[in-house]
Amino acid sequence: MSYPYQIASLEQYHADYKKSVDDPEGFWGSIAENFEWRKKHDKVLEWNFTEPKVEWFKGAKLNITENCIDRHLKTMADKPAIIWEPNNPEERVRIVTYARLHKRVCQVAQMLVNNGVKKGDRVCIYMGMVPELAYAILGCARIGAIHSVIFGGFSAQSIADRLYDAQAEFIITCDGAYRGAKDIPLKSVIDDALIGNRTVKKVFVYTRTRIPVSMLKGRDLWWEDEMEYAETQVEKDGVVSFPAVEMDAEDPLFILYTSGSTGKPKGVVHSSAGYMVWTNYTFVNVFQYQPGQVHFCTADIGWITGHSYIVYGPLSAGGTSLMFEGVPTYPDAGRFWDIVDRHKVNILYTAPTAIRSLMGFGLDPLKGKDLSSLKILGTVGEPINEEAWHWYDEHIGKKKCPIVDTWWQTENGGVLISNLAGITPSKPSWATLPMPGVQPILVDENGKEVTEKDEHGMLKGNLCIKAPWPSILRTTYGDHERCRINYFATYPNLYFTGDGALKDADGNYRITGRVDDVLNVSGHRIGTAEVENAINMHAGVVESAVVGYPHDIKGQGIYAYVIYGHMHGDAEHTKKDILQTVTRVIGAIAKPDKIQFVTGLPKTRSGKIMRRILRKIAEGEMTNLGDTSALLDPTVVEEIKNGKL
Ligand code: WTA
Repeated sequence: MSYPYQIASLEQYHADYKKSVDDPEGFWGSIAENFEWRKKHDKVLEWNFTEPKVEWFKGAKLNITENCIDRHLKTMADKPAIIWEPNNPEERVRIVTYARLHKRVCQVAQMLVNNGVKKGDRVCIYMGMVPELAYAILGCARIGAIHSVIFGGFSAQSIADRLYDAQAEFIITCDGAYRGAKDIPLKSVIDDALIGNRTVKKVFVYTRTRIPVSMLKGRDLWWEDEMEYAETQVEKDGVVSFPAVEMDAEDPLFILYTSGSTGKPKGVVHSSAGYMVWTNYTFVNVFQYQPGQVHFCTADIGWITGHSYIVYGPLSAGGTSLMFEGVPTYPDAGRFWDIVDRHKVNILYTAPTAIRSLMGFGLDPLKGKDLSSLKILGTVGEPINEEAWHWYDEHIGKKKCPIVDTWWQTENGGVLISNLAGITPSKPSWATLPMPGVQPILVDENGKEVTEKDEHGMLKGNLCIKAPWPSILRTTYGDHERCRINYFATYPNLYFTGDGALKDADGNYRITGRVDDVLNVSGHRIGTAEVENAINMHAGVVESAVVGYPHDIKGQGIYAYVIYGHMHGDAEHTKKDILQTVTRVIGAIAKPDKIQFVTGLPKTRSGKIMRRILRKIAEGEMTNLGDTSALLDPTVVEEIKNGKL
């Protein structure tokens, strides 16, 4: 495969950027030539941000799996599509060629159809990082079923909420998942999530850990049995086929739930054509992917990064995607470097939190590991601090690998602001320049474009985007108004990201972090309201307020101020009960790092919690708390300060 649209120089970047803004339809219309369509589009773009309504490649017909698999079969059937590295390094590595991937995806599609799954049905996927997860996703896409992958760390309650919101009728799961030294009993979590559920008809269970599971007659099916039967249907005389279902460009491809500033996660909906074009285009350009290279994205497929840069981006480009089941520190902190060495990884894409945590182990884990195959490094998920950036550059990239700092969000589908590896300049801890097609703007509180530079010559404001790029979210599942209010109503005619940013004189952007009530813990988005709701579910809790505070490894930690009624036993025990409650309601990823019991919270006369003050105290700022004149009872603040952890 070649990529005629791969940007090869800084001049070309500027020229392409200009074209994409001056004539978006011409620009993306010609990029679209590089894909396989059942029918070409009638119109490249129609949009308004007031409803909002965005349609890309209108009238086109396609199936994304034909672009990710079938079109590569002629020339790359025996090339590895997925290299799978198991949690336990002593277990066998699996190399999945494009031919094998094709067969497995056809089998999954057949298996789903055999069990009544139709185009448009929602299939919830709750699996560990096994190749079958990729087959499941692509199998859904092949028949036009909408997949909704839920990260394996979410609790039964979280799954139940998501199943209900999506009205999902089917689930694909595993008996269990391996994560480092832990075995996670996924099927049993699903069983709990299904108590009282009336919509789910079938649950497919893939065997990974052989932990005993309960299998409900008529509902639960073994993946292996169903796949074996499907194999006899899709393979005849050595020829494998399962005709992909024709999708409209704007038919939804998947839902992915993500946190916002309200208590309830939103089901972000991505389309088929726009998402395909964007993940492919950004994969090829940001990472400057060359055919044959091994791309290792360390994210979990439960998050958008895994969707876009383990599955859809690399596969649509005919790439080789390395999929890793484990964690960076198991069996030891040299795991990533061992994987890079053994598989001759060329591109490593990971999160700042992983870099910071591995930095903490010093240089010993790197000893004896040959990292010379590495050509390009990337980061995603949160701002990267300069110290981590330089460590990554010096010790992993040996100062010869460009680092791409990729800024984007679940709602964006793929990278929006990033340098292009080796093509546009990098700047430590700056995401730098927008991708072609992306028109950022910094606005003040009132939505007015910021034009006054600060004392360092920077513009500073809330980051918005002026016009749609192909993979902008189309809606939030089942509630379009929520989508409008969340993203398009804060500032008229702009998509609001929820992030703050700086812009330098050269047009580079530095993302400074969320400006709303969303935390970014180890690169994972968690809404403070969501955590508060979970804490408040604990029987003894009267009220709580959650804020973020700087954390050396996680980027942000979760600090909870809790008003507690009547304490049973000692305070430490009660804290553990609260943590257990949060784990039950959301999952371990949302557990507060610190809980401080207080007798009151700083509120305004109208009853609004003044989080700004709580945030400052959590950060350790005790004197300069800003204006506290609106406080109903200023003595609470003193008490909270005195009790700070
Ligand atoms: C943050 C992850 C700074 C940001 C792909 C955004 C970043 C949120 C970066 C989205 C980066 C992501 N630099 N901040 N390179 N990448 N973020 O939806 O606050 O899980 O709004 O998508 O992560 O998180 P999400």
